[in-house]
Amino acid sequence: MEKSILEVRHVSIWFTQYERGTKRRSLPVIRDLNLTVGAGEVVAVVGASGSGKSLLAHGILGILPYNSHMEGEILYGGEPLTKERAEKLRGNGLALIPQGVTYLDPLMKVGSQLTRGRKDQETKERCRQVLERYGLGPETADLYPFELSGGMARRVLIASAVMDEPKLIIADEPTPGLDARAAGRILGHFREMTEGGAGMLFITHDLELALTIADRVVVFYAGETIEEAAAEDFQEEGRLRHPFTRALFRAMPSHGFAPIRGSQPYPGTVSAGCPFAGQCKACQKECGEADHIPVRQVRGGLVRCLYPEKEETV
Ligand SMILES: Nc1ncnc2c1ncn2[C@@H]1O[C@H](COP(=O)(O)OP(=O)(O)OP(=O)(O)O)[C@@H](O)[C@H]1O
Ligand code: SF4
Ligand SMILES: [Mg+2]
Repeated sequence: MEKSILEVRHVSIWFTQYERGTKRRSLPVIRDLNLTVGAGEVVAVVGASGSGKSLLAHGILGILPYNSHMEGEILYGGEPLTKERAEKLRGNGLALIPQGVTYLDPLMKVGSQLTRGRKDQETKERCRQVLERYGLGPETADLYPFELSGGMARRVLIASAVMDEPKLIIADEPTPGLDARAAGRILGHFREMTEGGAGMLFITHDLELALTIADRVVVFYAGETIEEAAAEDFQEEGRLRHPFTRALFRAMPSHGFAPIRGSQPYPGTVSAGCPFAGQCKACQKECGEADHIPVRQVRGGLVRCLYPEKEETV
């Protein structure tokens, strides 16, 4: 891997909530998270709904909700990525393809959203090319977001993110609602961008989709990274290290669609031990009692499990 574009070090995110009007409580949703994205690399973050994937993206971009609090360190190009620096770099160096199409400004035409107000010929031409690349005609530039179909709006979000050739693209579920061919074409474009030196954090709940593009896969569970593996490790179940990752492998349509029993705990409901304990057949007494399950290196990857080599079925 070349030099890191993004480094996320020991990041934790909490929400402050008020119960019955006055009682304040802290809700931890991301705990001690570490990951890196190198130049030319696609790192997929895979996890179930509610595991903290979008919050991680928003934490990096400095756009977390007002009732949240973040600790830890985020570096971009080796320098701390403060909220102010992230704002300056947004769209120009650092780009987010957000999960929701509501991120488009409803009062601004598509063209102005892409060009960010610039009117020179070169920018207009680049805007035309980027729209064309995502299957949108030049007339799209004159439309307001309410005039776009869901699929068009999604492609406009992607076009807007790549308009200024960012060095780091954070794509948060970028292709839902698009047919397999359109999604495949978009992933192909992402791959071209990373071959040109950009780094990508590709966020999805769909492991099969992630494996079509990723170099490395980081698996999220209840706000923690529980495994980091090379994409090749997903060729065989036995190469994977965490019981949840192996369950995800078996749940893939190409590997039998085996359902994963139970569901991940809701934020704030795990007080100690391994958050996966309630779903894990390899669970031992120590798993529920340990203060913290440490991350360890196993066969070239990382895993947060006390018994990573134990064979089991979830
Ligand atoms: N503003 C908020 N206040 C309190 N809790 C929140 C807030 N925003 C998100 N959460 C909680 O944080 C957790 C992680 O949310 P997040 O949106 O990051 O999940 P996700 O992994 O992106 O899920 P999905 O796959 O459905 O997009 C969820 O349990 C959610 O309920
Ligand atoms: S073996 Fe223990 S530590 Fe590992 S995933 Fe299962 S419950 Fe968690
Ligand atoms: Mg999300």
